[in-house]
Amino acid sequence: TAPDLLRNFCIIAHIDHGKSTLADRMLQLTGVVDERAARAQYLDRMDIERERGITIKSQAVRMPWAVTDAAGVSTPYALNMIDTPGHVDFTYEVSRSLAACEGAVLLVDAAQGIEAQTLANLYLAMENDLAIIPVLNKIDLPAAQPEKYAEEIGGLVGVDPEDVLRVSGKTGAGVLELLDKIVATVPAPVGDADAPARAMIFDSVYDTYRGVVTYVRVVDGQLNPRERIVMMSTRATHDLLEIGVTSPEPIPTKGLGVGEVGYLITGVKDVRQSKVGDTVTNNAKPADEALGGYSDPKPMVFSGLYPIDGSDYPILRDALDKLKLNDAALVYEPESSVALGFGFRVGYLGLLHLEIVRERLEREFDLDLISTAPNVIYEVTMEDKTILTVTNPSEFPGGKIGEVREPIVKATILAPSEFIGAIMELCQTRRGDLQGMDYLSADRVELRYVLPLAEIVFDFFDQLKSKTRGYASLDYDVIGEQAADLVKVDILLQGEQVDAFSAIVHREKAYAYGVSMTGKLKDLIPRQQFEVPIQAAIGARVIARETIRAIRKDVLAKCYGGDISRKRKLLEKQKEGKKRMKTIGRVDVPQEAFIAALSSE
Ligand code: GTP
Repeated sequence: TAPDLLRNFCIIAHIDHGKSTLADRMLQLTGVVDERAARAQYLDRMDIERERGITIKSQAVRMPWAVTDAAGVSTPYALNMIDTPGHVDFTYEVSRSLAACEGAVLLVDAAQGIEAQTLANLYLAMENDLAIIPVLNKIDLPAAQPEKYAEEIGGLVGVDPEDVLRVSGKTGAGVLELLDKIVATVPAPVGDADAPARAMIFDSVYDTYRGVVTYVRVVDGQLNPRERIVMMSTRATHDLLEIGVTSPEPIPTKGLGVGEVGYLITGVKDVRQSKVGDTVTNNAKPADEALGGYSDPKPMVFSGLYPIDGSDYPILRDALDKLKLNDAALVYEPESSVALGFGFRVGYLGLLHLEIVRERLEREFDLDLISTAPNVIYEVTMEDKTILTVTNPSEFPGGKIGEVREPIVKATILAPSEFIGAIMELCQTRRGDLQGMDYLSADRVELRYVLPLAEIVFDFFDQLKSKTRGYASLDYDVIGEQAADLVKVDILLQGEQVDAFSAIVHREKAYAYGVSMTGKLKDLIPRQQFEVPIQAAIGARVIARETIRAIRKDVLAKCYGGDISRKRKLLEKQKEGKKRMKTIGRVDVPQEAFIAALSSE
């Protein structure tokens, strides 16, 4: 298709504002799928995505759309709808899908108004110079307030509230007009057709049958079937086994030219060989310069992951190896813990990523897992100037530390203005620094904070939701790092360190952490034959202490007479029980106690 007949756009929307429903409606109205199939939701393929109502992997669908002008002449356009991931952890993937488009539909629930993630993605789209089409969705809802929210998003985008389209993905109202508006408003792609090919990878998905399916947007030149291609970041070359467009099933084509969006299959088995953001070029006539904007995904949040049943360790290892084929951002290495046995230290983009990975492992591989409290990545400079990267609190050095640096984020919070006080208080306790505040409308504000990432990974979102009765929304983006007064707090059982509970915290919060952890463990660890002190310490200095009082539990005392076989049975039973015990020093602790202490965070 000639570039001037192409329109590449995405839909920016908050979770549940109806992106999938609208996308399905468009597929149906353009004849790509029939109404019944539309319900199968072509854009979100993964089960978990659908159940959790979030879109993680972006993909693209091509739709034909003919526009008839005043003179009755019909022009056949091809619209490429590119799906964007909707959540904060995937900002980099969002930015790549936006870079593949010339326009964005800003879709906002007419009963809810815009949310923080949508706003953040809107700003990203504006930075990418995309044409923005503001649209209010779900106008069929009785609770819809189109006038109010048209004012709000009109103001943000800089259009007259009257020009904000009103649609319903559910009834189909306004959707034909939206398709026409996309053709009229979104610029046609421009590129150099005679130049060596440059195509940006905006998504890459592992498929059990076909290997990695790579989604690209061609900027210049042409990619042809069966030619050899080069991945510019690594210089790796591959044979193109298939090239085509999705509409909604994969359809092989005779190549992809300027402005086109489609997929490639090269037979590679690991998404790391086909990286989001990388540039693909022809091997025979390679481009000199890659398209801008490529960066490697950086894991920012780490946590230990252990099978509850130690014998599941090999299954966990295989499961992680399989997930990695599909998730370029997932990193892990084996670690072991006195309290939890053998497991892995896993790096994630953020908390949602952590949850998704864990859920997939539990569901798809039938594993029962426990994860340690998440921590961020720290850079520790020793007094002798050596620099260490710490992703596990138990590796935090004990010697003379010069400086500790932690990642910081720029956070955007949107909420009804009545909650400003509560939000500020929360951010204050999380070492937040207020950068600015704007009213989006008379009763809704946008607050901008700089916060340490470590303060966000720890139940910040839950707190924010509960303090605002669920009305606040949050978006954050890592912007750099800062020095902070951080210390490692260890938890000791009878003088022995329990590794899974070590934490790196701000000095001012060390005491509170120590008191809460020792208190929790005191309640969970059964009494022993002797007194057991539980201490929290920074280095050698104890900052909190609890004591489990001794009991004398003599199992044999119950046995009257000299029934030897009964005695033996009891002793057997006790031994059985001990198997699931972890021994810390002289103290026997049931693994359940550790698990309970970690889960009740
Ligand atoms: P994610 O895929 O989770 O990001 O959600 P989404 O934004 O794609 O939302 P989805 O299309 O799954 O719709 C969310 C909910 O809103 C569903 O229960 C839909 O049935 C409902 N919904 C979507 N569009 C409309 C609409 O136009 N009117 C009404 N009344 N409900 C709608």
